[in-house]
Amino acid sequence: MMKSEVKTSLLDNMIGVGDSVLLEPLTEDTFLENLKNRFDHREIYTYIGSVVISVNPYRQLPIYTPDKVEEYRNRNFYELSPHIYALADEAYRSLRDQDKDQCILITGESGAGKTEASKLVMSYVAAVCGKGAEVNQVKEQLLQSNPVLEAFGNAKTMRNDNSSRFGKYMDIEFDFKGDPLGGVISNYLLEKSRVVKQPRGERNFHIFYQLLSGGSEDLLKQLKLEREFNQYNYLCLDSAKVNGVDDAANFRTVKNAMQIVGFMDDEVELVLEVVAAVLKLGNIEFKPESRVNGLDESRIQDKNELKEICELLGQDQAVLERAFSFRTVEAKQEKVSTTLNVAQAYYARDALAKNLYNRLFTWLVNRINESIKAQTKVRKKVMGVLDIYGFEIFENNSFEQFIINYCNEKLQQIFIELTLKEEQEEYIKEGIEWTHIEYFNNAIICELIENNTNGILAMLDEECLRPGTVTDETFLEKLNQICAVHERFESRMSKSSRFLNDTTLPHNCFRIQHYAGKVMYHVEGFVDKNNDLLYRDLSQAMWKTNHVLVKALFPEGNPAKMSLKRPPTAGSQFKASVATLMKNLQTKNPNYIRCIKPNDQKTPHVFTEALVCHQVRYLGLMENVRVRRAGYAFKQPYESCLERYKMLCSQTWPHWRQGARDGVKVLLTELQIPPEEFSYGRSKIFIRNPRTLFELEDLRKRRLEDLATLIQKIYRGWKCRTHFLLMKKSQITISAWTKRHFQRKKYLHLKSVTLIIQSYIRGWKARKLLRELKYQKLCEESATTIAAYWRGFQARRELKRLKEEARRKHAVAVIWAYWLGLKVRREYRKFFRANAGRKIYEFIVQRIMQKYFLELKKKLPSMSPTETTWPAQPYLFLDNTHTELKRIFHLWRCKKYRDQFTAQKRAIFEEKLEASELFKDKKALYANSVSQPFQGDYLEISKNPKYQKLTGAVEEKILLADVVNKINRANGKGAPRIFLLTQSNFFIADQKSGQIKSTIPVMDITSVSVSKQTDGLFAVHLKEGSTAAAKGDFLFTSDRLIEIITKLYRTIFFKTNQKINVEINNEFLVQFNQDKVCVKFIQGAQKNGNLPACKRKNNRLLEVTVP
Ligand SMILES: Nc1ncnc2c1ncn2[C@@H]1O[C@H](COP(=O)(O)OP(=O)(O)OP(=O)(O)O)[C@@H](O)[C@H]1O
Ligand SMILES: [Mg+2]
Repeated sequence: MMKSEVKTSLLDNMIGVGDSVLLEPLTEDTFLENLKNRFDHREIYTYIGSVVISVNPYRQLPIYTPDKVEEYRNRNFYELSPHIYALADEAYRSLRDQDKDQCILITGESGAGKTEASKLVMSYVAAVCGKGAEVNQVKEQLLQSNPVLEAFGNAKTMRNDNSSRFGKYMDIEFDFKGDPLGGVISNYLLEKSRVVKQPRGERNFHIFYQLLSGGSEDLLKQLKLEREFNQYNYLCLDSAKVNGVDDAANFRTVKNAMQIVGFMDDEVELVLEVVAAVLKLGNIEFKPESRVNGLDESRIQDKNELKEICELLGQDQAVLERAFSFRTVEAKQEKVSTTLNVAQAYYARDALAKNLYNRLFTWLVNRINESIKAQTKVRKKVMGVLDIYGFEIFENNSFEQFIINYCNEKLQQIFIELTLKEEQEEYIKEGIEWTHIEYFNNAIICELIENNTNGILAMLDEECLRPGTVTDETFLEKLNQICAVHERFESRMSKSSRFLNDTTLPHNCFRIQHYAGKVMYHVEGFVDKNNDLLYRDLSQAMWKTNHVLVKALFPEGNPAKMSLKRPPTAGSQFKASVATLMKNLQTKNPNYIRCIKPNDQKTPHVFTEALVCHQVRYLGLMENVRVRRAGYAFKQPYESCLERYKMLCSQTWPHWRQGARDGVKVLLTELQIPPEEFSYGRSKIFIRNPRTLFELEDLRKRRLEDLATLIQKIYRGWKCRTHFLLMKKSQITISAWTKRHFQRKKYLHLKSVTLIIQSYIRGWKARKLLRELKYQKLCEESATTIAAYWRGFQARRELKRLKEEARRKHAVAVIWAYWLGLKVRREYRKFFRANAGRKIYEFIVQRIMQKYFLELKKKLPSMSPTETTWPAQPYLFLDNTHTELKRIFHLWRCKKYRDQFTAQKRAIFEEKLEASELFKDKKALYANSVSQPFQGDYLEISKNPKYQKLTGAVEEKILLADVVNKINRANGKGAPRIFLLTQSNFFIADQKSGQIKSTIPVMDITSVSVSKQTDGLFAVHLKEGSTAAAKGDFLFTSDRLIEIITKLYRTIFFKTNQKINVEINNEFLVQFNQDKVCVKFIQGAQKNGNLPACKRKNNRLLEVTVP
């Protein structure tokens, strides 16, 4: 669950009551008892409304951890148990979110834990505000200003080992986001008398001890200091060491803090020089010296110390020495110098030391302010933290206590004002009628002290400024005169006779009834302390130093700025600064932390009631509570009230759906709470009496117990029921499974039994059936066998009968044949011998022939002319017939084949046949030509436009047209020519032009010669004397030799009806012109492929090389 969702309240787990406003009855005793009770249980914080009372635990409690910071972060004030973090968180959040400037006023007596509280607030705010390098540096500087100020402003006292000897107010400034920007510190009234004198058991300011213990040898030498404390008159010796405090370590911390805050090294050096000078001043001692004129004079005993101081401060020794010996008084432009006696010299020395230190402290504060000053000019939100001394009531109260108590009166006044204002504002806001609250207004006491005309401070000032002899006694007298009638002023010597016999009031004292109690002041020292005089000679001497810091600390020593006006008195200064402070605080939203010291021994676990009671009184805490609960003791927003108590009413529990206000009304009505006990504000319910609240709380507690019981009951019921249901479910499941298991087992058993029985029955049935079947089969088999036997028997009987019958028929036939034969023989005996033999022979031959032909018919081979098979011959005597028949069949088959041909095809075959007759087995080239059909017109002469002229010249049908090589008769070289054959001529034409070169009538051809080889050379012999034969015979070569010659041969035959001679020989003669030339074919290597190479060897021989 998220933290913010947790609904808690201050009222939860309270030890005593967390808010004293709720005390019932409200008495001092119950109040103290409550504080003690809580203190004993480590609850050191208790509220009075929004005021936090903090009781110093004097031990480290684990309640300031980062976890705690987180716990209290962003939580409502009353949500968790009282804590200083709750206050800090509330203040920071209303500063950040509601833009309200805040001040945190921490009061309490010395050792009550104010400074610690202020540091806790600062550290809480530092922890919860923004982060980032710059912001962190600001935070660090703000936090580190504390150790520096504590070193210079704190000291060990009887009441506190780290007692702040000054009042401190620090404004922390934030930007609009709530990130810290810087701060301003104001200091009030440093207890400077401590520099020169400390009560027994107390110490001077920490810095002196820290410097001597922690400073290095070099540093001490440089500052002309000895390490031993006992070397210095100003250091109290009997309590120089404080238990649990390491001065040396603290010195390092301080130096480090100064560095972080922003002190330069030389600034630190200057500061330490002043500190050393103050220490050494205490060691200057004077001895009396009588002068002749009877005046007492003093002289410095040992000038060595003075010399060293002067060296440290860059001072002229004589100047300082003179300042310690003389006092110059200026009156009416006249300077009168008087010598100082020993007492006066000591007074002057101490005054110088006190002033020097006081001014150094103020300078330090200003210097820190310079460092932590916010760097921006944007509007800032401010949180002021005031850590100021509380009321002081000692046995011997002096001017300081008077001043301090005056300050507390003022704080109380604004506390009352602001608390009432806040209360009233809340009432108005909530629309509740404002009832007048009776409370003690301490304005009258403030008036007694600060009234400008007859106030105690005004009279003190008047006395100090008055010419003539002024003593503390004259001051008291004056008081006695003026204030005697004041109801809060008491004095033995006053005109009022009230205290004439009051022995508790010594003559040199006056008593004031402060709001927190009566305090008796001894007048001794009032005038002196108020005057706070430093002889002008000393301030002038100080101004004259070369020491920058010291010079700056004494500006009034500058003769140029010298004035005769007295500086303001300590009282008036303080009054003014208190007034400023009050003005400042009034503009802010106040938050109070009231610190209480539980015992004087500074020990944990001890709660001295008398001591606490005393503080409770003078802090006015009872007043606080009374004011706070004057109207209504408790108020709470409706939502939280309803949330907390809704279980008390049946209508609001567990859910109330309407507005929270109505819910609370219903609730309170049902609870029958008297109506005067509460009021309904706009957003809050106001409860007049704590009793009512506690009744409510009681009811709630009881109801919670009931509810717890109810929840417990329901939970237990639910748990048992759930458990029961689970058990039941489990039981059902288990029994189901068990039943299933048993049923299954039973079923399986039954099943197996059934199966067995079934199988037995089936077996039995099967066997029965088998038996029946077997019997049936046996019967059938037997029947079959019997039938078979019977049929066999019948068949055999039938067979026997048939055989018998056949035998009988055969016998009858034989007998008949024999008989017939006998009859025929007997009848035809006379004809048989002449004809019978020939007739039987013819008949038999006829029968055989018949059978032969019929069988041959069945076995005839296929009709293909190429088929060569023929059935085997069955009878030897038909040998010739068989061969003849084969031949006839083949011829008939060929005829049949031929009969299918068209005329064209027949012509081709005829040509092929002619070629075969001419060349087959005669010329080797023939074999190649068989498979090539004769196409005749290879040049497609009529279609080719190139040969148009040629076709025009040839009138007849072209039988053959091809390109051949014509062999030159003279040299045997070939030239391509067109060879064109028609029915009556053949032409030789130019291949390219188609120009006819020769026309030879076919009738002029006598013969053709070719070789036996595969070459294509052929010679065409012409008739001697014919025109074509003028040049002689023609020699051609062509691959289509076979076709050309066959066609030539057939053309001549058709033309002349004569067959020309085709000579096939490897040597033949040709007629060239007049010569007979022998063409001789020789075998040889071929040069140009398959073409024959012709070479005219001589007049008689032409050699043709063929492959
Ligand atoms: N909340 C706390 N937890 C533990 N110790 C504390 C707490 N508050 C105070 N103390 C102890 O009490 C001592 C005195 O507290 P602190 O110095 O704050 O008192 P003071 O009220 O400032 O006194 P003075 O008026 O003398 O300065 C601290 O040094 C510390 O040891
Ligand atoms: Mg303090």
